[in-house]
Amino acid sequence: MSSDQELRAQIHQLVAEYYQEAHAHRPFVPGQTRVPYGGRIFDANELIAAVDACLDFWLTVGPRTEAFEKRLAETIGVRSALTVNSGSSANLIAMAALRSNRLERPLQPGDEVITSAMGFSTTVAPIVQNGLVPVFIDCELGTYNLDTAQLEAARSDRTRAVFVAHTLGNPVDMEPVMEFARKHELYIIEDACDALGTTYDGRMVGSFGDLSTVSFYPAHHITTGEGGAVFTNDPLLARIAHSLRDWGRDCWCSHDSPRGGACGKRFEWTIPGLDEPYDHRYLFVEIGYNMKMTDVQAAIGLIQIDRLPAFVAARKANFQRMYDALRPYEDYLILPAWNDRADPAWFAFPITVRSGAPFTRRDLNGWLEERNIETRLLFGGNIVRQPGYRDIGYRAVGDLPHSDTVLRSSFFIGVYPGLDDARMDYVIHTLETFFAQQRSV
Ligand SMILES: Cc1ncc(COP(=O)(O)O)c(C=O)c1O
Repeated sequence: MSSDQELRAQIHQLVAEYYQEAHAHRPFVPGQTRVPYGGRIFDANELIAAVDACLDFWLTVGPRTEAFEKRLAETIGVRSALTVNSGSSANLIAMAALRSNRLERPLQPGDEVITSAMGFSTTVAPIVQNGLVPVFIDCELGTYNLDTAQLEAARSDRTRAVFVAHTLGNPVDMEPVMEFARKHELYIIEDACDALGTTYDGRMVGSFGDLSTVSFYPAHHITTGEGGAVFTNDPLLARIAHSLRDWGRDCWCSHDSPRGGACGKRFEWTIPGLDEPYDHRYLFVEIGYNMKMTDVQAAIGLIQIDRLPAFVAARKANFQRMYDALRPYEDYLILPAWNDRADPAWFAFPITVRSGAPFTRRDLNGWLEERNIETRLLFGGNIVRQPGYRDIGYRAVGDLPHSDTVLRSSFFIGVYPGLDDARMDYVIHTLETFFAQQRSV
């Protein structure tokens, strides 16, 4: 072994020891140890992979990002995956791709995109950022996904796309969405940021839309710290998304492309009006961004993706335990619901406090938070009531009453793999104690 390889092996060994000392033990004292709703799950392998990538010091998009993209595409079952620096960036690139002049029928300013009023801010933001008009439809209570029965009512002659999000890992009923899109020649973007590993009709979500996205923020199913990806089966959309991520340039070289470029004629491209050939690396064909993932992040992702099946199984098991424990309190709570064809890899466990309950969401959240159990509101509730979104130009189908209910009465708690039996027992016991008190009043 050369001395740098020897040193590397020693560093790996030390990192493994460090992991054991610093991170391996997760003691739990009920009531004192915080029970978060989500978080990164890792062991020495992720630390070693990250350190190894640092020792290579490639830093930007490189061999690991490209390997990670390959694994992601295989996992979802699509032709191409593009890593980016967040799920929000993935959504922005997906939406911007549909505005590209390189498409035969690009979306034009003022065109409409149907989406749910109930969701995360950066599902809606890219619609507005691209000069398009969101048309909001209400969510269903229980699934918290957009109500597909309202799709027709949302449509106008400016409708060009539907942007669906699989809320908390629970898949949207894709059949009517696909049918609606087919009938009216609309694009579909799937925001699967919270749903990596979820299937609908036996197919991974993220494989239905023209474009789809995931996030690798630490609370998600796998993590790279910050990070995300854009998926598509369409080679032109893949090229456009790649350009948008990489400053808007046309070049699609990988880290090991020859000097003459992946195109084979790197220095022979033309710019109209210029009588000299031009370097493909500086041929800008899109109004782009720089949203690249680093090789250090991808190194972590490559370990995490191997763990995805175990992570998904743990999420499902924790969800089922919580569901069974809360069934007796359905008179107080709306419990989660899902489609017959769905097999959700749950991101979290959503709960809505019924309007007739003798307590409010605030009472229940307060009870849990005082006992160190983290609760989260269901994202923006009704997005049109959020300060930043009140004055955007939009249309809506009706008054969005369910989204208002979510704003007022819904929240979620965790089911992530970090919740072992002791933590799950504690959360369930704490909830049961709360409901026992309500019953006894
Ligand atoms: C549905 C949905 N879309 C997009 C995002 C944004 O992802 P990121 O935090 O990676 O930007 C989130 C955030 O968690 C989300 O829940």
